[in-house]
Amino acid sequence: MEVPELRSLTLRPIGFIRTQKQVKFQALHQPMETQAERNVLELLPDNRHQVALQDLAGFSRVWLLWWFHRNSSWRPLVLPPRGPARRRGVFATRSPHRPNPLGLTPVQLIGVERRRLILGPCDLVDGTPVFDIKPYIPAFDSFPEARAGWLDEVEHGLELPPQFNVQFSPVAVMQAEWLLAHWQIDFRPRLIELLARDPTPHRSRRIRRRGDSRFIIGCGAWRVFFSVAETTVAVQSLDAAYPLRFLNNLALEDLPDRAAQLAFLDRFGVSPV
Ligand SMILES: C[S@@+](CC[C@H](N)C(=O)[O-])C[C@H]1O[C@@H](n2cnc3c(N)ncnc32)[C@H](O)[C@@H]1O
Repeated sequence: MEVPELRSLTLRPIGFIRTQKQVKFQALHQPMETQAERNVLELLPDNRHQVALQDLAGFSRVWLLWWFHRNSSWRPLVLPPRGPARRRGVFATRSPHRPNPLGLTPVQLIGVERRRLILGPCDLVDGTPVFDIKPYIPAFDSFPEARAGWLDEVEHGLELPPQFNVQFSPVAVMQAEWLLAHWQIDFRPRLIELLARDPTPHRSRRIRRRGDSRFIIGCGAWRVFFSVAETTVAVQSLDAAYPLRFLNNLALEDLPDRAAQLAFLDRFGVSPV
């Protein structure tokens, strides 16, 4: 006899989200509420979907229940992007690598247009299948006083002053200024924030060791070489994160900052790693 608890459930998407984020690292770990962003959830053509959206427009926020469809595996312990390099039980995190790959995001509802929901900032990549929409109800869904376990400890650590002093070499300054002037790209504030707190290797912060005291950190479509001596982080140079063979391969669509990376390599050459 079938054990009811072990029955499976087949979910079918009701629609797909359209966002500007093509690859996973472009999507933030949770939506950035301060950022002006417009995303569209397009429900599949089914007259019932349009009817099902009736009465939703009065809510300023909705929950999206969605599929981490770009992942195919899960791990019981994961390394969260926040805090020290320490693994946590996946159920104590919002990791996308879960036994049932379901994502849950409360997003601003800007408007309802027939079968389309116009949404604010979200952390879903373009094309993510969405299974369900529910209204966000502050009286039921908000508990500002609730404890947040290890995340509270991390927050507490962030209140302490940064432990490291980050210095840019003249080459790194020139490259960063060039990126800003020609491509309006500037990841220095985020880079400094990360390295000043903790420059040690960390997979989700994309920090790797290259030698005894030399490291590399990924920043979006870019990477940065740095070294650490006691409490000083010396940023040596910047580089395009994608190799030329990828950037020149037009079959690979949607590489982020592709034109800027090509121009950067043309201007500064390929880094000898
Ligand atoms: C940390 S998860 C949190 C998602 C959701 N707010 C939650 O708490 O369940 C957000 C990350 O999921 C990743 N992601 C977004 N869409 C995805 C998809 N369709 N498949 C796999 N990973 C995805 C992005 O890297 C994004 O930074």
